[in-house]
Amino acid sequence: MAKKVKHHVKDLRLAELGKRRIEWAEIEMPVLRLIRERFAKQKPLKGLTIAACLHVTTETANLARTLKAGGATVVVCASNPLSTQDDAAASLVVHEGVSVFAIKGENHQTYYRHINQCLDFHPKVTMDDGADLVNVLHSQRRKQLGEVVCGTEETTTGVIRLRAMARDGVLGFPIIAVNDAKTKHFFDNRYGTGQSTMDGIIRATNRLIAGTNFVISGYGWCGRGLASRARGMGANVIVCEVDPLKAIEAVMDGFRVMKIRQAAKIGDIFCTLTGDIKVISKDDFLAMKDGAIVCNSGHFNVELDLDGLASVAASRREARPYVEEFKLKDGRCIFVLGEGRLINLAAAEGHPSAVMDMSFANQALSLEYLWAEKPALEKKVYPVPQDIDDEIARLKLKAMGVNIDVLTPEQKEYLNSWEMGT
Ligand code: ADE
Repeated sequence: MAKKVKHHVKDLRLAELGKRRIEWAEIEMPVLRLIRERFAKQKPLKGLTIAACLHVTTETANLARTLKAGGATVVVCASNPLSTQDDAAASLVVHEGVSVFAIKGENHQTYYRHINQCLDFHPKVTMDDGADLVNVLHSQRRKQLGEVVCGTEETTTGVIRLRAMARDGVLGFPIIAVNDAKTKHFFDNRYGTGQSTMDGIIRATNRLIAGTNFVISGYGWCGRGLASRARGMGANVIVCEVDPLKAIEAVMDGFRVMKIRQAAKIGDIFCTLTGDIKVISKDDFLAMKDGAIVCNSGHFNVELDLDGLASVAASRREARPYVEEFKLKDGRCIFVLGEGRLINLAAAEGHPSAVMDMSFANQALSLEYLWAEKPALEKKVYPVPQDIDDEIARLKLKAMGVNIDVLTPEQKEYLNSWEMGT
């Protein structure tokens, strides 16, 4: 099958390993499996070409299989140069006949070439994680804009970019913000990022977390998730925030809150999860202790000012895989993990399948809604319809064997009336 399918992956001989790991992920993705079984019968995506710019993992492979079962042609490229699982990519090509353009560690130029190779398929739908696909369409391939009917966006950073485009009136087609579904960010951003970020830091460093001063920049859903996991492993968690509300929340959750410059002096491990640039600046790096470990788990590798750090470093070398040592002129060493790219996917395997199950169920059902119902949408960013969110929660609970109560008619009436007694 691979011969007929256009692709650029590391090594097709990895396909067998990839297949077994994709099957392993599927065990924890019951909601997506149910959707795939229904899609296989009903073919709601027949005739649709989808370009998916996602982290190419075993979970993404299960999403691609689901979309294909629904009748779609799916082409996949990476949404980050370091997040591809080469075996999963190979299996998608060999076993599923899906065109994949993604190689772990690809350089900037290849990364964008792969996005363009996906767009060469003239997709009607874009599926993005960070909005790079949409960005290339709008900046370099505007002639194709009219061919695209709609898109979806997986992550907070992408949604922020797309909302800015919609606000400036330049967004070329409607997009559903999958990230904003409750069954996505309550679980994927919080529990997924929390666990997978710890996993990435530990796999990269093999360091003990207990007893460290663990500095977290950003107390959104992802930062909250990481803070609770770091505390659970015995770290002294320090939170840095710019939003006063989130900062109070961190205080009341029992964490120390301070400015990054102050935290820089005492932190052992640092992780940024903000979506903004230069969250840890050159001067913050200069204030750090010898041996400080610094990483990022936000979508783009812009949160750490690594150029600034490089400019004050006397030397740099790989200390071990995914750990780069920057030696300062006074002899202090700062260790940066995974080139400042999202550490959970660079050094580990990303979020566990159980949370990606809900995130990708949102992707699949949102696409079905867009394609089958063809709602009249403007060129704006839309939420996932509430009934899809609710249905995914119901299906997940069912798969987990958890039963919940239902309101009695009297309770329903009470909640809907202002006249019933207090
Ligand atoms: N984003 C974070 N974790 C992921 C995973 N396991 N698969 C795809 N995208 C992800």
